[in-house]
Amino acid sequence: MGNRTFTMFKPDSVRAGHAGAMLDQIIKGGFKVVALKYTRLTKADAEQFYAIHAERPFYGELTDFMSSGPIYAAILEKDNAVEAFRTFIGATNPAEAAEGSIRAQFGSSIGENAVHGSDSDDNAVIEGSFFFSGRDEAR
Ligand code: RTP
Ligand code: MG
Repeated sequence: MGNRTFTMFKPDSVRAGHAGAMLDQIIKGGFKVVALKYTRLTKADAEQFYAIHAERPFYGELTDFMSSGPIYAAILEKDNAVEAFRTFIGATNPAEAAEGSIRAQFGSSIGENAVHGSDSDDNAVIEGSFFFSGRDEAR
């Protein structure tokens, strides 16, 4: 198991002003911020980032949404980071997310679910590299 994951605060949670509260909870939850960026994806960026979902029926909606406003992107460090962070943020559908999880608190629908978390160590590296170079990392 690896010790890094990648996250984005999605346009819904940023628009709603929840980025600060989410970052605070993530840090207090024991995740160390290795790199952090405030930026916005173009539609083409979102299509590339989510290329793995290209055949899914929600791909168009997802990439429209993800390019609809600014996001925060971050690399996080913790033991077993990928699994620990997915537990911390809760189920994809906020209605099914555990009480107290980020998505239960800040997500509003299966599409607009506040936050992204990598689903494997390999994808954490690929996704982190999409936004950051080694020079962006705090050491
Ligand atoms: P994420 O990648 O954002 O951390 O979410 P996840 O692993 O829990 O879910 P995934 O299956 O990877 O889906 C990626 C994102 O696509 C949107 N989605 N919409 N309308 C739908 O049925 C649907 N299903 C998924 C969500 O925003 C989900 O986070
Ligand atoms: Mg996913």
